[in-house]
Amino acid sequence: MTSKEFQIAVFAGDGVGPEIMKEALKVLKVISEKNHINLGLTEGYIGGSAYDLFGVPLPDESLNLALVSDAVLLGAVGGPQWEGLDYSVRPERALLGLREKLGLYANLRPVVVFDELLDASPLKKEVVQGIDIMILRELTGDVYFGRPRGVTIGKDGKRTGVNTMIYTEDEIRRIAVRAFELARGRRNNLLSVDKANVLETTELWRTVVTEVGHDYPDVTLKHMYVDNCAMQLIRNPSQFDVIVTTNLFGDILSDEAAMLTGSIGMLPSASLGRDKALYEPIHGSAPDIAGKNIANPLATILSVGMMLRYSLNRPAEAALLEKAVADVLKDGFRTQDIYSAGSRLVGTQDMGNAVVRKLETLLQSATSRARCRSMK
Ligand code: IPM
Ligand code: MG
Repeated sequence: MTSKEFQIAVFAGDGVGPEIMKEALKVLKVISEKNHINLGLTEGYIGGSAYDLFGVPLPDESLNLALVSDAVLLGAVGGPQWEGLDYSVRPERALLGLREKLGLYANLRPVVVFDELLDASPLKKEVVQGIDIMILRELTGDVYFGRPRGVTIGKDGKRTGVNTMIYTEDEIRRIAVRAFELARGRRNNLLSVDKANVLETTELWRTVVTEVGHDYPDVTLKHMYVDNCAMQLIRNPSQFDVIVTTNLFGDILSDEAAMLTGSIGMLPSASLGRDKALYEPIHGSAPDIAGKNIANPLATILSVGMMLRYSLNRPAEAALLEKAVADVLKDGFRTQDIYSAGSRLVGTQDMGNAVVRKLETLLQSATSRARCRSMK
């Protein structure tokens, strides 16, 4: 390991995780080799597969690997065989543990509708065409981590469940700052989503986001209640640019928004902290289709693109990767989740290979263009 290397912890995880990760790593390899990006990749166990081997979903070794790496690339965790386990050792705890221990408070979930996939969306073409939304979900607070939590049994023998929705103003402020910065790099429109008409915690959210907004007069800030936002995402999604919201609301709204694109198999994500980052597709481990070479690897491949952009500071390579994905879709390649009549049904590996081939061509012509320019 040389100090120049950028260290990546790779956790393929459970279900379709290993298959999609394999394709994403192929894509990463092509880019890093052709453009001389010095990467050090180390694989580790996480989730249910880690539980089966070590009795815990996030072994110390994996956590340490993540802590010493510059970024984490993750497939998916979970599956029905682990659903009966105690909460403390469920595969999902690994994900939550990583988010907490790496301080990954800002979760970016871009929702982009590719023109080629307009037919795959359950909504009308004219409603989803051109959609380009960035959902920024707070990721280390709220009911996900708030205490007290758990189920207690009272003297009368009856059970009570409790989770705590909690946000400090500092937590709200730092995600709000990220949100305004993101909006500045896009179309200058920020929507903050809360339930301030009922929940005091999110009334504070609204107040603090508004305060931060005074430092960003160039960004238009609006607020919306979460129930209305859920409706507007279906009714008129093109009104949205950047949406910032709490952990729980963001979890729900991002799954809903994913369906605008036709398939959750298309959506990448980045979880950013102060100096750490984790990249993963937003779909889960899809155990029902695992091992069949039919899962869509594009969300994981696009997550590699986000890593190039946000951790490696390689926006040109990220843009080429995104273009390769768009071109492959233009050529008609489709995994089953985005298939429509007349297109070309391919499996996980063939989809990965198609992106690799496209990238090789794009990287080649980018290099020759650069060479021509330097000769002029
Ligand atoms: C997500 C997932 C996770 C979450 C689960 C797997 C713990 O749904 O990343 O959206 O609820 O955050
Ligand atoms: Mg979710």
